[in-house]
Formats: sequence, C-alpha cells, structure tokens
Amino acid sequence: MNTYNILYSIFVFYFFLSYNLSFCSEDEEPFLYKRSPDYLINNRFFEIEPAETAFSLDIQPIDYPDNYTLKQLYLLSRHGSRKPIIAQVQALNQLDKAFANAPVAKEWGKNPFTVEENYRLGTRGKLEPYYDGIQSFKRYKKFWENVKYDADVVKFQTADRFWISQSAMAYSEGLFVGTGPIGACKNEPVYIWSYPWNQDYFLEMYTNCLRFNQTVLNNFTYYIEQTYAYGNKTLAPLAEKLTKKYNINPPLDPQLVPSIYTYCDFMVLHYDQTDTWCALLSDDEHRLALYYWTMRDYFQYSYGHPLNEKLGCAYLTQFVNSVDDYLNGNSRMVADLKFAHGFTESIVLTTLGVYKNKYPATADLTFEQIKGLKYIQQTVTYWSSTIYFEIYTSPSNDALLRLVVNFEPYVIPGCDGEYCEWTKFKSIFADKINCDFEKMCAYP
Ligand SMILES: *[C@@H]1O[C@H](CO)[C@@H](O)[C@H](O)[C@H]1NC(C)=O
Ligand SMILES: *[C@@H]1O[C@H](CO)[C@@H](O)[C@H](O)[C@H]1NC(C)=O
Ligand SMILES: *[C@@H]1O[C@H](CO)[C@@H](O)[C@H](O)[C@H]1NC(C)=O
Ligand SMILES: *[C@@H]1O[C@H](CO)[C@@H](O)[C@H](O)[C@H]1NC(C)=O
Repeated sequence: MNTYNILYSIFVFYFFLSYNLSFCSEDEEPFLYKRSPDYLINNRFFEIEPAETAFSLDIQPIDYPDNYTLKQLYLLSRHGSRKPIIAQVQALNQLDKAFANAPVAKEWGKNPFTVEENYRLGTRGKLEPYYDGIQSFKRYKKFWENVKYDADVVKFQTADRFWISQSAMAYSEGLFVGTGPIGACKNEPVYIWSYPWNQDYFLEMYTNCLRFNQTVLNNFTYYIEQTYAYGNKTLAPLAEKLTKKYNINPPLDPQLVPSIYTYCDFMVLHYDQTDTWCALLSDDEHRLALYYWTMRDYFQYSYGHPLNEKLGCAYLTQFVNSVDDYLNGNSRMVADLKFAHGFTESIVLTTLGVYKNKYPATADLTFEQIKGLKYIQQTVTYWSSTIYFEIYTSPSNDALLRLVVNFEPYVIPGCDGEYCEWTKFKSIFADKINCDFEKMCAYP
C-alpha cells in the first residue's frame, strides 16, 4: 500500500464518520426532550423570572446624577405567579383527554390543578412580591431611609382581586420589614385600597370599556383572522407531527397545541417537573406554541389595536395629577405603589409608546423574527414584574421623570433621553391626559 492509498482510505473513513455523525445529530430527534426547570426558566421560555434576579439580596442602589434628588416613586407591578385559571384548567383537562390513549402519557397522571385553585398564588408567587419589596428598599435606599410609613405618604393600591391584594401585602412586608412594631420581624401594618373592579378605569381599564369588548377582544380582521392563519400555517402541521410521533388517536386538535406550552409552564412553576408535558416539544416548537399567546397579547392588549394606545389614559391622567399635586405642594405622598395584572402593564406601556417591537406580531413572521421579539410577556410583563416611574428634582427646579421597567431605563418617545423633563412629558401626552374615559369607551 503506498502513501497515497493510505491517505485516501483515511479520507474515506473520515468522510464516512462525519457523514454519519451529522446524520444522527440533525435528522434523528429525541422521542422526549430532556431539559431542567432552570434551563427553561433561565432561557425565558416562561413568564417566570429567573431565581437569580427574583430572589437576589445582592442589590446595588440605583444610579442617578448627584445633582438630582429622587422625590417620588410610582410603581405598577404585576401580581406574583399563580395557579392556572379555570379556562386553563379546562384546557389542560382536554389535553389529558386527547393523550388518554397515547402510550407516551400513560404514567403521567391526571392534571393536578383544580378549578378551586383558580388564580391562587403559589408559594413562589407569594415570595416574588415579598422580594420585590426588599429589593425596592435596597435599590432606592437613600429614598426609603427618609420615609416613615404613613397612609398619606405611602399609598398601596390594587386591582380589586384577592391574588393581587395578597401580592401587595407581601411586597409591603418586604419593604417595611424591621421598621414597624409588630412581631418578631417588626412588621408595619399598611392600608391597601382598591376601586371596586367595575369602577376601576385605572388598573382594569380593559374590563370597564365596552368599546374594547366590542371592537378589540374579538376583532375579526385584526385578531381572529391572524390566529386562524397561524393555526393553519404553524399549529396544524405541528399537531399532525405530534399525532404521528406519539400515536395520538383521535388526531390532536391544533387548537390544543398552545396549551401544551401552558401545561409545561405550570408544571415547572408548581412542581419543578419537565419530564412530562415539557418533554413533548423541542425548544423551537416550544417557542412556536408560545407565539400563539404572544399574538393574542399583541392584538388584544398592545399595539395590535389602535384603541390600546389610548386605553391607559385614565391611569396616565391620575399619575400626572398626582405628580403635579406634589410639585405644587398640595400633597405629602412620596410613593404610590400599585399592583395589577400583566394586561394592565401591557396597556400602560403601550399608551406610553414604549414596549414596541420593530415589527408587528402577525401570523406571517419567520421563526427568526419570532425569536427576535424583544418586548413580550416572557421578558417584560412576567409575574411580579415592576414598572417604576421615578420623579426627580434638579437644582434648576425642573422636575424630571425616568421610566424604569424591571430596573432597565426605557426612553419614552418624544423625550430627549432617559430623564424626561416633566413639562415636556406632559406636552407629549397632552391629548391622553384629561381624557374622558367613559366617552372613549361608549359603544357604539
Ligand atoms: C447635573 O449633573 C450632570 C452630570 O452628572 C450634568 O450633565 C448636568 O448639567 C447637571 N445639571 C445641573 C442642572 O446642574
Ligand atoms: C367586557 O367583557 C368582560 C368579560 O369578557 C366582562 O366581565 C365585562 O363586564 C365587560 N365590560 C363591559 C363594559 O361590558
Ligand atoms: C376591528 O378594528 C378595526 C381598527 O380599529 C376597526 O376599524 C374595525 O371596525 C374593528 N372591527 C370590529 C368588528 O369592530
Ligand atoms: C384555518 O382557517 C379556517 C378559516 O379560514 C378556520 O376556520 C380554522 O379554524 C383554521 N384552523 C386553525 C387550526 O386555526
């Protein structure tokens, strides 16, 4: 054998080997996908904040220029993570039924969530806002150290729902632990107030707007048509694939595919479990199932409908009046801490013109575009996420506003930068301040 022949056979051997390797890794997908809860949470597959930030006590005070003084703090926070709501429990039951004859799901057991647990906070969901309170104290240390709790000075307001009120309570315990007279932890009892839910134009604007119900929620051309298109283009082929792969009989209804995402989300959140429903979808398929919900949020609660760019106007009006009252010396309130829904956050951010992706979340996006969406629930309005409005004064006495979402400053369109002059802010939003909410929402 000469050298040439030896080299040639080595070459052929390697060619064969590498061909085989790539064949295995690209074409043969696992029957079930193995991933840890941390992998899924930390890669932002869910609306769950990674533990590393959610429960961190190593918090640096927030930065701002030396010549500014932080005078007021406004918070809008989403409640902590919860159990599935009734509609979700029912969808998970339907999935149980759909997979009843599929060998893969034989040992999985039944849906552990019940309708009685509708909206109940889980353990994590009670801890998240408690840590948000602790983190607020550390983040705004110089500010909070000068505040003594008084119901007129620090206000707690919630949407009139038990899981949201409980979140506010948990936050207050984190914020004031060690400063009050009660018990071993020296807690401070606080006053938490709400408008009745059917009069709350501020935190439940979307529940109280008939025009929204009639023209946004089930808008055929804007929303329904898009979900049909996505159903036919993406969910139907995915359902067909799962049907073949897992022997599902009768064939899986494409409408149930997004609920596989939901099932996985709640099994991780409450049971740390990824070897059942989470194991059915690859990373990419998981993102495709999730995108169905992203589209819903976009069309129903964000830029997908023009009414949503005004729907936060009562919230904005109350905020502006409250800052002005303080600046004019008519109010002692320094902190207004509000707790509500993810949809509330979405509508307020949409009304402010932030939280806007470079392209709309429509059915025809490519997978790369879907992955490129920065402003979605999983990364912005997740459970217990926080939106702070900081009000500063400077030596020349111009008040300034900074918007900080999950401690990332957002520049409001029309402002010159992170710190927006108060008068400028008010002129940008002149047509949304003093809106007549009832008139705007009258229908037809
Ligand atoms: C405040 O300080 C910043 C630098 O930190 C400076 O750019 C700005 O001009 C100062 N403003 C006033 C009103 O002194
Ligand atoms: C809008 O619909 C929701 C149910 O989806 C209902 O609870 C609410 O009362 C309706 N709002 C108005 C103003 O009719
Ligand atoms: C859907 O929304 C568009 C945009 O506002 C509107 O023109 C249309 O009338 C709405 N459709 C319904 C059925 O309300
Ligand atoms: C496909 O589109 C039709 C309407 O064109 C709709 O009735 C059907 O529900 C869609 N399929 C899915 C899975 O969304």
